[in-house]
Amino acid sequence: MAGVGVLFDEAAEDYDRARRQLVPGFDGFYGAVLEAMPFGVEEEIRVLDLGAGTGLLGAMIAEKFPRSRVTLVDISVEMLRVARRRLADKNGRFGFYVMDYARKPLPDGYDAVVSALSIHHLTDGDKREVFEKTHDALLPGGYFINADQVAGATPQEDARYRQWWLERVRAAGVGERDLGAALQRMRADKNATLKAQLGWMEETGFESVACNYNDHCFAVYNGRKARRGFSPERMDG
Ligand SMILES: C[S@@+](CC[C@H](N)C(=O)[O-])C[C@H]1O[C@@H](n2cnc3c(N)ncnc32)[C@H](O)[C@@H]1O
Repeated sequence: MAGVGVLFDEAAEDYDRARRQLVPGFDGFYGAVLEAMPFGVEEEIRVLDLGAGTGLLGAMIAEKFPRSRVTLVDISVEMLRVARRRLADKNGRFGFYVMDYARKPLPDGYDAVVSALSIHHLTDGDKREVFEKTHDALLPGGYFINADQVAGATPQEDARYRQWWLERVRAAGVGERDLGAALQRMRADKNATLKAQLGWMEETGFESVACNYNDHCFAVYNGRKARRGFSPERMDG
C-alpha cells in the first residue's frame, strides 16, 4: 500500500470538499482544540501544527488568535500547496515545512503544538516518540492538543465505532467517491485507544492531561508542559 504522503498527495485537491460529512461533530471536534488553548485572543502565540494538511485547523487558530504565528508541517507537498492557497491572504503569519515529523527533529520554542487527524497514522512506538519530541518543542507552560481518531477498547467496541461512523457519514449525504477515497486512506490508520494515549502523555511528563472531547472514535486530549521549577532558597534559623 502507498505511503501516507502519497495517499494525501493524491487526495489533496478534493480533501476539503467532504470534511464536514466525513467528520461527524466537525464543529465540536475542531472547536475543542480552540477551547483547549487557554491564551488571550490578543496574545502573540507561536503554534506548531503537526500534519497540518490543507490548513483547516491552522486557519481556525489564525482567526481566533489574530496575532498568532503558525508553523504548518506535513509530509505531503500537495496538501501544503492547498494550505498555502487557503492562507494566502494572511501571508507572513504562516510557515510551511514539508517533512516527516515522526522521523525529523521538530523546531522548538512554541506556546502550543496542535495536531488534527494525523498522529493516528503512526505506529504506537512512533506516537510515543512524537509525544516526547512535542514536549521538547514546547516552551515551559506550553500546551499540546491532539484531536484524533481513537480505537475502541475491544474489537467489538471498535466495530461499533466503525458502524456508527458509516451510518453518520451516509446520513450526512457523503458522495460515493469521497467515501471510497476516505475508506482507502483509512486502511493506513493505526488507531490507539484513548486510555493508552493519555497514559503515554503522562509518561512523557505532560501535566494536567485531560480529554475535553470524545464521541466514539473521535477524541481531543491535551496536556501542559511544566513551568520551570520554582525552588526558593530555604531560610533556616
Ligand atoms: C487526515 S489529514 C488531516 C489534515 C488536517 N490536520 C485536518 O485536520 O484537516 C492527515 C495529514 O497528516 C499528514 N501526515 C501523516 N503522517 C505524517 C508524518 N509522519 N509527517 C508529516 N505529516 C504526516 C498527512 O500527509 C495529511 O496531510
